[in-house]
Amino acid sequence: MNLLCIDSSARAGRSDQQAHGSHTRRLSAGFLHRWKARRPHDRVVHRDVGLHPPAPVTGDWVRAAFTRPEQRDQRMRETLRESDALVDELIASELIVIAAPMYNFGMPAPLKAWIDNVVRVGRTSLRPRPGRGAVLADAGRTGPATGPAGRARRFRL
Ligand SMILES: Cc1cc2nc3c(=O)[nH]c(=O)nc-3n(C[C@H](O)[C@H](O)[C@H](O)COP(=O)(O)O)c2cc1C
Repeated sequence: MNLLCIDSSARAGRSDQQAHGSHTRRLSAGFLHRWKARRPHDRVVHRDVGLHPPAPVTGDWVRAAFTRPEQRDQRMRETLRESDALVDELIASELIVIAAPMYNFGMPAPLKAWIDNVVRVGRTSLRPRPGRGAVLADAGRTGPATGPAGRARRFRL
C-alpha cells in the first residue's frame, strides 16, 4: 500500500525529541512507526508543507487550471508544475496521513495551500473513492474540531 504523510507544523522537530518540537509531527511519526511495524513493505512518501509550503494559488494558476490541458501554453504548464506533482503524489496514495496543528481556529495556511493545489478540475474530484482512507492527526484545543488535543481520527474517502 502507498501512504502519503503530510506534515504541516511550522515547527521542525518532534515534541518527544526536543523541547519546542511539534506535537503533530510526533503524532504522525508515531502512527507511521506503528503502521510500518505491521506492514513493513508499504511505501511512505513524506510531503512537508510546514517546512516547504506550496505556492498559494494565483490568478495565473486559476487561469491555467481552468484551461483545457491541450490548450495550455508553456507558461501555463510551468505555473501548474508544482500542483501537478502534488496531484500525482495524491493520486498514487491509498492512505493519506495529515498532521494538522490548529492555527487561529483553522488549518495552517500551507496545508490550505496544499488543498488548493490538489483540488483540480479533470484530475481530482471530491467524490468518494472506495478503498481510500485518511488519518488526521491534529493538535489544538479550540476551534471547529474541539476536543482533547493530540489525537488521531480516521476517515474513509
Ligand atoms: C499561530 C498559532 C495559532 C494557534 N491557534 C490555535 C487555535 O486557534 N486553537 C487552538 O486550540 N490552538 C491554537 N494554537 C496552538 C497549537 O494548535 C498547538 O500549539 C499545537 O501543538 C501546534 O501544533 P504543533 O505542536 O504540531 O506545532 C495555535 C498556535 C499557534 C502557533
